[in-house]
Amino acid sequence: MMRRVFVLLLFFSAVSVYAQKFEGLALTPPMGWNSWNHFGCAVNEALIMETADAMVESGMKDAGYLYVNIDDCWHGERDSLGFIHPHPGHFPSGMKALADYVHSRGLKLGLYSDAGWKTCAGRPGSRGYEYQDAMQYAKWGIDYLKYDWCGTEGLNARGAYLTMRDALYKAGRPIVFSICEWGNDNPWEWGADIGHLWRISGDIAPIFDGEEGHGSWSSWGVLQILDMRKGVRKYAGPDHWNDFDMMEVGNGMSTDEDRAHFSLWCMMASPLIAGNDLRIMSQTTLEILTNREAIAVNQDSPGIQGFKCYQKDHWEIWAKPLKDGNLALCFLNRGLNSVTVKIDWTEQVVKDDQFGHQYPFSEQVYSIRDLWAKQDIGTTEKAFKAKINSHDVILLRLEKK
Ligand code: GAL
Repeated sequence: MMRRVFVLLLFFSAVSVYAQKFEGLALTPPMGWNSWNHFGCAVNEALIMETADAMVESGMKDAGYLYVNIDDCWHGERDSLGFIHPHPGHFPSGMKALADYVHSRGLKLGLYSDAGWKTCAGRPGSRGYEYQDAMQYAKWGIDYLKYDWCGTEGLNARGAYLTMRDALYKAGRPIVFSICEWGNDNPWEWGADIGHLWRISGDIAPIFDGEEGHGSWSSWGVLQILDMRKGVRKYAGPDHWNDFDMMEVGNGMSTDEDRAHFSLWCMMASPLIAGNDLRIMSQTTLEILTNREAIAVNQDSPGIQGFKCYQKDHWEIWAKPLKDGNLALCFLNRGLNSVTVKIDWTEQVVKDDQFGHQYPFSEQVYSIRDLWAKQDIGTTEKAFKAKINSHDVILLRLEKK
């Protein structure tokens, strides 16, 4: 008996010292901003400071946005000892000073690197420098690392991400670890012990329904990413999320499309990382990004990813089980024409076999709230009828009466 206890103790202490990510950093999907979708390589310290200011002053911080993430191209060179430094012209005050500034605004700072020799934009990658890079990030006060997968020929994905996870842990500063491997090697199967979120797709583009070709690769529309991976929802949950990519809200789609995109990312419990220019966004963009009731659906504590529960012609219903037996429903019109939807609740049962939830509307009455109209609109005792514009949604919250 004593021996078994001893062996168990040894096992658990070994696990906690050697094989660990920083637990509990993303109990709900991370919220923040990332430079890539709007700015690409045009990043510098003024942009990051102004973005942090805008996040606070616009009310986004109060709505839950926390991370200000610099994507590719912040890098300068490695020094003679191998330590990486930011580009001296674009980040003249250095990363520590920038992190201090972002922290002084009550926000957190994220950086980007890559498991290969070079990042996707050809900057120095972390391969062979994992522990040094992790030490440097910890010293600077970095809070979030997105770790990309370019230039990794010959590397094993799980192994490469494991190395960086261990390097971050060893460096001692809690850092959210964002696996950006595009889903090629099924990161949902191994990512939960390694990172806090993993991309399930190639890059998003500001298109609702379509694909943008770039020669050897494509970027994807909102619907394409929504549909891309069947069967991954069971892998998502608190501290380990399917990442549907950074958002394109405010980057050129129509208002209806932006609202639908945001609602779907909320329904899928995807990280909510804005990708627009926060300094000059319109009131409409801000209202979409800060819809607190939609955000509450995304941040709901059991962290259950939504699923499609009904489909008819060009429209469908997505369901997301919420805490206390409540439910979010998103009516999505994929078509190019508006559609009138009608649901007689008492004839419907929403069933989530994966997570074991059932919503028998004939036995249990729910109140209904329209989260974009911001209105209570009755109960499930009465049939629901509504018109939905092309590429738009209706987002409802149903609560047990
Ligand atoms: C891609 C990644 C994008 C962006 C870009 C930077 O691989 O999916 O989100 O980080 O690299 O070069």
